[in-house]
Amino acid sequence: MQLSLRIAGVVSLLAGATGALQVDWSSDDSVKDAASTVAFGLLKYYTGNNTGDTPGNLPDPYFWWEAGAMFGTLVDYWFYTGDKTYNDVTMQALQHQAGEDRDYMPQNQTRSLGNDDQGFWAMSAMSAAENNFPNPPEDQPQWLALVQAVFNEYVTRWDTDTCGGGLRWQVFTFNKGYNYKNSISNGCFFNIASRLARYTGNQTYADWAEKVWDWMKDVEFIDDDFNVYDGAGVEQGCTDTNKAQWTYNAGIFLQGAAMMYNFTEQDVWKQRVEGLVKRTNEYFFDDGIVVERPCEGFNSCDYDQQSFKGYLMRWMASASQMAPFTFDTLMPLVKSCAGAAALQCSGSPSADLYKGPAGTACGFKWTSKEKFDGLAGVGEQMSALSAIQYTLVKKQSVAPVTATTGGTSKGDPDAGRPMEAYMPSLPPISTGEKVAAGFVTSAIAFSVLGACFFVMKD
Ligand SMILES: *[C@@H]1O[C@H](CO)[C@@H](O)[C@H](O)[C@H]1NC(C)=O
Ligand SMILES: *[C@@H]1O[C@H](CO)[C@@H](O)[C@H](O)[C@H]1NC(C)=O
Ligand SMILES: *[C@@H]1O[C@H](CO)[C@@H](O)[C@H](O)[C@H]1NC(C)=O
Ligand SMILES: *[C@@H]1O[C@H](CO)[C@@H](O)[C@H](O)[C@H]1NC(C)=O
Repeated sequence: MQLSLRIAGVVSLLAGATGALQVDWSSDDSVKDAASTVAFGLLKYYTGNNTGDTPGNLPDPYFWWEAGAMFGTLVDYWFYTGDKTYNDVTMQALQHQAGEDRDYMPQNQTRSLGNDDQGFWAMSAMSAAENNFPNPPEDQPQWLALVQAVFNEYVTRWDTDTCGGGLRWQVFTFNKGYNYKNSISNGCFFNIASRLARYTGNQTYADWAEKVWDWMKDVEFIDDDFNVYDGAGVEQGCTDTNKAQWTYNAGIFLQGAAMMYNFTEQDVWKQRVEGLVKRTNEYFFDDGIVVERPCEGFNSCDYDQQSFKGYLMRWMASASQMAPFTFDTLMPLVKSCAGAAALQCSGSPSADLYKGPAGTACGFKWTSKEKFDGLAGVGEQMSALSAIQYTLVKKQSVAPVTATTGGTSKGDPDAGRPMEAYMPSLPPISTGEKVAAGFVTSAIAFSVLGACFFVMKD
């Protein structure tokens, strides 16, 4: 009797500690509370502000780019919730990692720095400009100028020697993946070009966005049905396409296309937005819940891939503002994902997986519509935070600013360096040295899973 009572006590205690987030989705305050709880758990992974650590870095096993993505999520967290708690660490990180040359190419990251890695930091700086995140002191790198630096460097890397154009995945010849051209690197270029066009009104940026899109279509990384594939090798002239479809590739082009539609008001961009919305909805969602197709069903998503869904949430919410005709399609999907993600935020895993309060770790498989699935990490926590916080985007929300509608970030159209200035002469990476290629999507898709899953959903 006594024993069973004690067991019952333990069970109810556990149940109390592991209940999912309670969110009243009709109340902004309740949504903000939930976002705050999840954000608190996310920041427990961050050690860059500890004495002796480097601001802006996440500890192993998280790559540099994911930290950049995290601080972009936190810029938006502040913008939508008004909670300034993490503004200081966000400012410090986005400034420190701008690096020696104010272009998000810090020397420490040379071994792992691809065009996409640099791009994720640039997109976070762009969000800071668009949201009027506090400006750094005048002698420090400014948000808009940082994005322009990355844009200008991308222009110098546009490679017409192979595949008729496009950015390679990697910047440096000695990094693994230099011979691959991919959608995420070109997506970063397209994304910041379209946003710079809208923010500054400078047509040069729009012309480059157009050029990247056209090239993506030419090599059929985006096909006529608006599938967005991973990439292809340059030796084969970009014909051996790896057809894995990742949520963030669809999302990064969706937001950029919506920006271009907003900037140009052209029907051709409206049709592209419509195409991407339709295909994204069909391909990635099961009953309104997003699934990372190439890996989620196989329990094989790596640390990078575990974070992709959150960026799709971010870019869908943004597209719903820049192309308001998509709002009634996109925002119900963000909301259904948020509900499912919040159910997952009930975990109490061991401290090596999660250091936040018990009962607040977020799992990965939102389709399970159940409690915590046991997977915890920066990707899971950040994706859940994204889904939850972006439900605060309203039809009549205050739109991101531009230079003529209240934007205060200072630009420098000439920022960045010519290619010769940053090509270091490093010896080739020796075997055994950690090859920290920021993204490993292609390798995973080919070697672990084979090609069978590509036909899983059509
Ligand atoms: C680092 O930032 C986190 C999140 O804001 C905070 O909880 C922690 O106390 C900070 N650590 C230091 C050493 O300032
Ligand atoms: C590069 O690494 C050194 C040594 O860990 C560190 O002090 C410095 O802050 C790092 N620089 C950047 C931009 O991360
Ligand atoms: C561009 O975005 C603004 C802000 O959301 C919106 O009011 C406007 O209608 C959009 N333009 C077009 C052509 O949809
Ligand atoms: C527009 O952007 C291009 C590319 O950075 C730059 O060369 C040009 O000076 C800019 N034009 C204006 C008017 O700022």
